[in-house]
Amino acid sequence: MFETLTPAQPDKILALIDLFREDPRTRKVDLGIGVYKDAAGRTPVFGAIREAERRLLADQESKSYLGPVGDVGFTRAIVKLLFGPSADTSRIRACQTPGGMGALRTLLQLLHRAKPEATIWTPQPSWPGHAGLIAATGLATRSYAYFDAETHDVRFDAMIASLKTAAPGDIVLLHGCCHNPTGADLDLAQWGELADVLTDRALLPFIDIAYQGLGEGLEQDAAGLRSVFAQVPEMVVAASCSKNFGVYRDRVGAAVIVGRTSGQSEIAAAQLLGAARSLYSMPPDHGAAAVRIVLSDAGLRGDWEAELEGMRRRMVSLRLGFAEALQRQSNSTHFAFVARQRGMFSRIGATADQVYRLRKEHAIYLVEDGRINVAGLPEQRLDEVARAFVTVLGKPPA
Ligand SMILES: Cc1ncc(COP(=O)(O)O)c(C=O)c1O
Repeated sequence: MFETLTPAQPDKILALIDLFREDPRTRKVDLGIGVYKDAAGRTPVFGAIREAERRLLADQESKSYLGPVGDVGFTRAIVKLLFGPSADTSRIRACQTPGGMGALRTLLQLLHRAKPEATIWTPQPSWPGHAGLIAATGLATRSYAYFDAETHDVRFDAMIASLKTAAPGDIVLLHGCCHNPTGADLDLAQWGELADVLTDRALLPFIDIAYQGLGEGLEQDAAGLRSVFAQVPEMVVAASCSKNFGVYRDRVGAAVIVGRTSGQSEIAAAQLLGAARSLYSMPPDHGAAAVRIVLSDAGLRGDWEAELEGMRRRMVSLRLGFAEALQRQSNSTHFAFVARQRGMFSRIGATADQVYRLRKEHAIYLVEDGRINVAGLPEQRLDEVARAFVTVLGKPPA
């Protein structure tokens, strides 16, 4: 049987974890995998989640099945977090999923069932996980213009021009905030213009939101999604709680459907649960139950928001500090984009060869496409790291 198989391509981002762990150099710097890190390099459990887990252990009376929809208190709370506390939820249906990936996968399966001939458009570049998930469902895929590697900003006009070539009924995958891997996001006016194009051309927005609260703030990071919701007749959303609740390994996410009518949403949601049933049966309970407890208790929610805001501010200040250090080391404002962008990631503009040299010569680990995780920058050694980047990348024009 297995003699027919060829070795699988290793996941390049996950492979970095092992390489980093095995590197004996004490001053090594991990800017690779996309997890938040505090100043001590730890990925902490949120205090509010720890307390919610304590309550869960004390109060949970049964571990009987909840069914493919998962914890409905959790999904109700996530819908509020995404769409706002006063949103009209009559056309919204949601189910709990194993992480954001589970949400993406089940929604893609649903869309394939609804319209197998549709093409899904993804930004150029996008998070590499998208391509594998789309391939697994068999939907055709194309990319739309998104990031300008010269200016490090969104190529908004080119993006709109690409999307105007899509056929009615095609699907457009959008990063809700903190674009991975570039850190370059649309502003609110651009979201509005985009929503017009999506509506005019009958394209289905598919918003992947995995970093709410880590860009500009909890409300601000959902503003694009909310402006699309206010305008379009139909949309889907894949939400992840991995980063903003720190529950990575517990696998917590939600798949959300907005149909034209409440009746259509109901039918689509039932089909979504069918897809979930055939893929993984039911989502794991623990992490989602902890998130529900946090979101439904005013005290814990306040603690969670404060901790999340602290993480966000730390990343904004690391961005500023690193951009300034890069300016000092290069005598150029070329790297100012690092301070301008938001979320965990920026693309620093390194080739695969330069990424390899940074690792070999300076023990600085980043993803092959030049993506850096700003949360991994060592606060006290920003000039040292910036010097290594400038040495390897070469001095940009002043
Ligand atoms: C853009 C994006 N979407 C989805 C995910 C998946 O998140 P999860 O770990 O919850 O499956 C990630 C994780 O890195 C991501 O960056």
